[in-house]
Amino acid sequence: MSEPAKPATILVIDDDAEIRYSLSRVLSTRGYQIIEAASGEEGVALVKKGPAPDLVLLDVRMSGMGGIEALQLIRSANPRQLVILMTAFGTAQTAIEAMKYGAFDYMMKPFDPQKVLALAENALKTRADLHAVSDYKPSINADDYREGIVGSSPVMQDVFKVIGQVTASDVTVMITGESGTGKELVARSIWKHSHRSSKPFIAVNCAAIPDNLIESELFGHEKGSFTGATGQRIGKFELCDGGTIFLDEIGDMALATQTKILRVLQQGEIQRVGGVETIKVDVRVIAATNKDLEEMVKAKTFREDLYYRLNVVRIKMPPLRERPEDIPQIVDFCLQNLVKQKKARVTKVSPEAMAIICRHRWPGNVRELENVVYRSAVIAQGDAILVKDLPAEIREAVAASPETPAALATESAAVPAAPAVEPTALAASVSTAPFVAPATDVATKSETSLDDLYDALFEKLRTGEEPILSQIERAMIDRVIAAEPDLAKAAKLLGLTKAALQKKREK
Ligand SMILES: Nc1ncnc2c1ncn2[C@@H]1O[C@H](COP(=O)(O)OP(=O)(O)OP(=O)(O)O)[C@@H](O)[C@H]1O
Ligand SMILES: [Mg+2]
Repeated sequence: MSEPAKPATILVIDDDAEIRYSLSRVLSTRGYQIIEAASGEEGVALVKKGPAPDLVLLDVRMSGMGGIEALQLIRSANPRQLVILMTAFGTAQTAIEAMKYGAFDYMMKPFDPQKVLALAENALKTRADLHAVSDYKPSINADDYREGIVGSSPVMQDVFKVIGQVTASDVTVMITGESGTGKELVARSIWKHSHRSSKPFIAVNCAAIPDNLIESELFGHEKGSFTGATGQRIGKFELCDGGTIFLDEIGDMALATQTKILRVLQQGEIQRVGGVETIKVDVRVIAATNKDLEEMVKAKTFREDLYYRLNVVRIKMPPLRERPEDIPQIVDFCLQNLVKQKKARVTKVSPEAMAIICRHRWPGNVRELENVVYRSAVIAQGDAILVKDLPAEIREAVAASPETPAALATESAAVPAAPAVEPTALAASVSTAPFVAPATDVATKSETSLDDLYDALFEKLRTGEEPILSQIERAMIDRVIAAEPDLAKAAKLLGLTKAALQKKREK
């Protein structure tokens, strides 16, 4: 990665000449070349005409074309254009809209010069990082994609071979392995390639169904056979006739039910709960567990005869940490899936971020990896996942690992140092925090914990029902007012008018 030879160009779009002047003054102290536009229309025209500036600072409220509209036009003309929106009126709605339409960040007036510089610098660094991943080559091909299961490590190749071997027959297969290693995926793959693929595949999670209901679930029941059995019910085995049933978490199945499963396996027949009729079923059984069945057999909590009946062919799914060479493929596969489902637009991963991903131990295996790729892709601002986009817990776990070389912690390790920002507490911890990758030294401790906070808030925003932005706003207002009881001064600190602050307090 090399620093651009020319100074970075920054386009400032604001209808207020004073703001343009003060921003240019601050930014030119770092040698940036400033271009000014006095309206949204003028700014958009400049971007369209090119050459594209390295960064755009865009005011939200302008007479004529507003900032949000200009942002949309700029991003549709150049989807990679980095834009920071500026506003004196921080509302949740504008902040959300800004980020939704692809702003890189959002800053509030009045500006702290150090904050502006730090923000601009981070944006430009992200841009450089994104450019550096332009030669990224996805490691999977269309065949892998169709198969829905990827991995080129020798252990996974062995798994694929066994899948191929067991598809021709109806032999019972037992799949073992830690949570998230792909047991169900393998079961589906066996079914898809077998002569039973036109008949159902039904997965039953034995751990999720209470003991008193599992038999009815599997074998069905007759009307009135127990309290609550108001009508006849057809069980999964009957529904699955001709197909494949996947008994997940078989180690959690009660002994009484185990006996009945043995009967299906030996005689190919079932009886509905409360019924007398014997029903013939033709079902292939694939079982899975992450429990130690051998131990359970010794402890007599799992039937030995059933164990041998199920364990005709055993597929042991290796944990992800034992096959790190598969990780890049799985990451690409997840990204392709996300793009296909229109959940994200990210198609690449920076080498530094990939190095961290590959070094993590992934206790939750592929499921955890999938989840992390998803979370990172959603917050990534360009077309690549960078180190800063990875969840803090992954970066920290890898950074804390004794084998991790210091250079792995952040992309900036590979980029020549950018001009230093004065390390005022505010500039360093508030404005740059969302973009700073964690380092292990004390100076960046506050960024790291703020980063964690942002991650946690982001999780809440995604999963919770609470309007996070207004909560943050309220918490901030409370703190400022506690420290500065004079409303006019408090309003100024918050970048609000006194009336606006009063209105917010009333709310
Ligand atoms: N080799 C792989 N290639 C692509 N995706 C995979 C692979 N292995 C697992 N996955 C994905 O990871 C997730 C977890 O897989 P799966 O549900 O099959 O795991 P499991 O072993 O059954 O987990 P659990 O024991 O928690 O039920 C799924 O979304 C699956 O698609
Ligand atoms: Mg499973």
